Order: sequence, then C-alpha cells, then structure tokens
Amino acid sequence: MKTELTDSPEIAAQFIRAGGIVAFPTETVYGLGADVFNEAAVGKIFRAKRRPADNPLIAHIGDLAQIARLTPGVPRQARLFIEAFFPGPLTLVLTRAANVPLVAAAGLDTIGVRMPRSNLANAFLRACGTPVVAPSANLSGKPSPTTWQAVREDLDGSIDCILQGEATEIGLESTVVDCTGSVPVVLRAGAVSIESLKDVVPDTRVFQLVDEEVSRSPGMRHKHYAPNAAVVLVDSPSKIIETARAAFIGLARLHASLDRSLVCESVEDYARNLFAFFRDCDNAGVRTIYCQTVAETGLGAALMDRLRRAAAR
Ligand code: TXA
Ligand code: MG
Repeated sequence: MKTELTDSPEIAAQFIRAGGIVAFPTETVYGLGADVFNEAAVGKIFRAKRRPADNPLIAHIGDLAQIARLTPGVPRQARLFIEAFFPGPLTLVLTRAANVPLVAAAGLDTIGVRMPRSNLANAFLRACGTPVVAPSANLSGKPSPTTWQAVREDLDGSIDCILQGEATEIGLESTVVDCTGSVPVVLRAGAVSIESLKDVVPDTRVFQLVDEEVSRSPGMRHKHYAPNAAVVLVDSPSKIIETARAAFIGLARLHASLDRSLVCESVEDYARNLFAFFRDCDNAGVRTIYCQTVAETGLGAALMDRLRRAAAR
C-alpha cells in the first residue's frame, strides 16, 4: 500500500470516511485513527501496529456533542473533568454505548474518550464527522511518535495516509482517568497532572497495582515506551560511567563524554524530547541511555512514569 503524505486535514479525513487508517498529530503524540463505527477499519489499526487485540483504543472527538454517540451517560465527576480540561491531553474512561463495536474497546464495556486541543487534530476530526479511535501511531512496543517522520519510520506502506503537522507540543501520551467507579482513578499519568485533577474532584486517586485491579487497564500489561537500548535512571549525571555507545538525557550539565547527550531546559522540554531522543539513540546504535530522574510533581510524574517503564524492560 502507498502511504499518502498530506498537510490537508480535509484530504486526510477523506481516507477515514472511505474506511482507511490515517496517522494524525495531536498535542500529545501522533495517533493512528479509524472511524470508530467501522469495524473493518478498526481491525486494520491492530494489524498495522501489530497491537495485541486485548488493548483498547481511545475515541477522539472534534465536537463535545459526539460524546453522546459513545456512551449512554456521563457521570457527574466526568462532567466536571470535561468542563475543566476538554479539549486537552485527558482521556476519560466511560461506559461504552452498545453501538460502539467491541473490537474498538478490546471487548471491554468501557470506552476511552478524548478531545485533543491541537488545531490540526481538531480540524481533522471535524472533517471526519465521526469519532475516530486512535492508539499512538507507533509499532507496538516502540516509543510513541512525536513527529510525522517517526510515524513514517514505523508504518510507511502499512497505513493509508499521514497528516503532516509539527512535532507534538507535549510529547507524552494523555492522562487516562477511569470515571466508571465511585471515585475517579488515574490509570496513566500525563500532562493533566494529578494535582489539577484533585483540584476538580478531590477524591481522585491514583491507580495502584493490586490483584483485583490488574485487568482495569489492559495496556498496562503490555510493554511500552521502550527503546532497544537499555535505559538506566540516574539522579545526577555525575553517576554516569563513561562507556562506548552510551547517551544521556536530563536537566543537569553532563561532564562525561558520551556519544549523544541532550540537556533540557525544563521538565516540559525533557518530556517533549524524550521519545524522539530514544528513537535517535536506537537509530545510532546506542546501547545504554542514561536518563536523569526528575521531581514527581506536575508533568514530572508523567515523565517519571515513562522513564520507569522504559527502564523496567
Ligand atoms: O495521548 C494519547 O492518549 C494518544 C493520542 C493519540 O491521543 N493515544 C494513546 O493511545 O496513547 P494508546 O492506545 O497508545 O494508549 C492508550 C492507553 C492504553 O494503555 C490503554 O490500555 C488505555 O489507554 N485505555 C484505553 N481505553 C481504555 C479503557 N476503556 N479502559 C482502560 N484503559 C484504557
Ligand atoms: Mg501507545
């Protein structure tokens, strides 16, 4: 299959309406989308990404009115989050409407819903005229793509179209909050911080891995965010042992001489650059990536979550 490259949201949306799959930018990472109501198209996403069928997809909307097509009812706490954070980097897990195909939800009775705030994503989703389910547009197990070039590296020839936008603004995937229980539960940290969620719903708690909950977010069982290189977390670059084929990313200046290093200006800058740095290191044959740890507040909690997953591989 030839993968069409375009910067036109209308052209990209035509592929969705014709039952195809399209990669598109959001403020978090690039997604790989299909019409949520077209089962055959949704199936193509799982095949192109080589994604396990038990990992559910997020439905992206361009218009708040589309929520009613995805869920039979929005609970009060979810409504508060929608008012405070939509459009934005937040996914709410809600009860799935009966007409949403099982394949999109990986067999669950819930569906993740998110309204991106990036202008290009919004123009694309509006032109599609239907909610678009989309996981990150990487091959399963690879770091999420933050540029259209990274999407092409993973998926050229196996998807219909790439909507070309800028490098993504945030660089880490959305915060995922399960709103189907009595209190909201954060399943994945992201740019909408735990502190800001608690400001809106003080009872919000963070998912802790205990046995009864293991099946709550199937994606958590799967490997994520991992480069091929080994990731080693260090609290200071002074701890780094100089070796061949090593790299560093963090906030403090590095004195060791390594093949590659990226000293970031802020936690935001670090988050924005992390996944592209992982990909660059893999392409350059780096074997060990030293990543500096950061304080776990605000976006720092999401960044540390991704760093730990990459290191735990
Ligand atoms: O920022 C993002 O969320 C990006 C952009 C494209 O929107 N998307 C993204 O999708 O990261 P994905 O599929 O790579 O990650 C979605 C995560 C997975 O861990 C998945 O298991 C979880 O959200 N998830 C999705 N639907 C769920 C549901 N109904 N219940 C529990 N977890 C769900
Ligand atoms: Mg993903």
